[in-house]
Amino acid sequence: MRKKVTVVGAGNVGATAAMRVAEKELADVVLLDVLEGVPAGKALDLAEAAPIEGHDCRIVGCTNQYQEAEGSDIVIITAGIPRKPGMSRDDLLSTNMRIMKTVASEVAAVAPKSILIIVSNPLDAMCHVAYEASGFPKERVIGMAGVLDSARFRAFIAMELNVSVENIHAFVLGGHGDTMVPISRYSTVAGIPITELISPDRLAAMEKRTREGGAEIVGLLKTGSAYYAPASGAVEMAESILKDKKKILPCAAYLSGEYGIKDLFVGVPVKLGAKGVEDIIQIKLNEDERKALNHSAEAVRKLVADMKRLG
Ligand SMILES: NC(=O)c1ccc[n+]([C@@H]2O[C@H](COP(=O)([O-])OP(=O)(O)OC[C@H]3O[C@@H](n4cnc5c(N)ncnc54)[C@H](O)[C@@H]3O)[C@@H](O)[C@H]2O)c1
Repeated sequence: MRKKVTVVGAGNVGATAAMRVAEKELADVVLLDVLEGVPAGKALDLAEAAPIEGHDCRIVGCTNQYQEAEGSDIVIITAGIPRKPGMSRDDLLSTNMRIMKTVASEVAAVAPKSILIIVSNPLDAMCHVAYEASGFPKERVIGMAGVLDSARFRAFIAMELNVSVENIHAFVLGGHGDTMVPISRYSTVAGIPITELISPDRLAAMEKRTREGGAEIVGLLKTGSAYYAPASGAVEMAESILKDKKKILPCAAYLSGEYGIKDLFVGVPVKLGAKGVEDIIQIKLNEDERKALNHSAEAVRKLVADMKRLG
């Protein structure tokens, strides 16, 4: 039985995610958007690349036809507007909140057993909207941010040390915003903590660049935000779920007391398998790290309260 992944939002992140799912031969893909023609055009273009890339995934694109998503194993939601230079992720709140509400309830109606991977920003707040609008259990609503933020940190570490990216593990916890918390103590190169290889000053600079990684790309692109690495992040999560790999990845998950945080989506290490979030891994944090994580969680809590006010 072939797996099925629906990607809602056929823009930069969505179309790239569809391409990566197909090229890894993970599943058949449905690309869905409000725009006329664009999802169908991009899906056809991707299907025409298949003979060259050598995959047999079926890719279809459609406009507002949620019935096409029926039976999806995973739905990756990228629908919404991205940032422009000078905007913070939080500036997207009211527009994307309304979009996410509609999309998540439509998806829940046709694919009630699916697992949602949320990408739209502001990420942690959008996870709340999707969780409430879908009515899905917390294990089946997961936000993509930590995989991207830690990939950025890993890329910077690899550049700094001139070593393979494959040797590097890194953790970034907290919300997907300026308060995110790169955890250098748990970041390693071939098992060696980076704190033993990189000076505290350089590490602080790399942590800052990681926190500002999204804005750095928005500043260069000027007309939108990053999409290659975000799509890779969402697809790594999808792959771990579809293949029941049980990878431990930093994701936005609904916390019920873990890390002392309750009723909030925050980025933490989770085990991703066929059931979605199968475990939340609680690593020991020192005083500074715990403070930074709580500060980040408070920023998410404030956004959730703002959404309640916006209705
Ligand atoms: N979580 C992360 O780490 C991360 C990283 C990058 C981008 N993002 C976010 O992902 C979102 C998408 O970014 P992008 O660069 O692909 O933007 P984009 O503008 O290229 O694509 C967004 C698409 O969503 C579609 N859309 C709007 N309303 C819709 C609806 N109701 N139903 C279906 N589709 C709808 C638009 O027509 C558009 O095609 C943004 O909110 C962006 O901020 C998050």
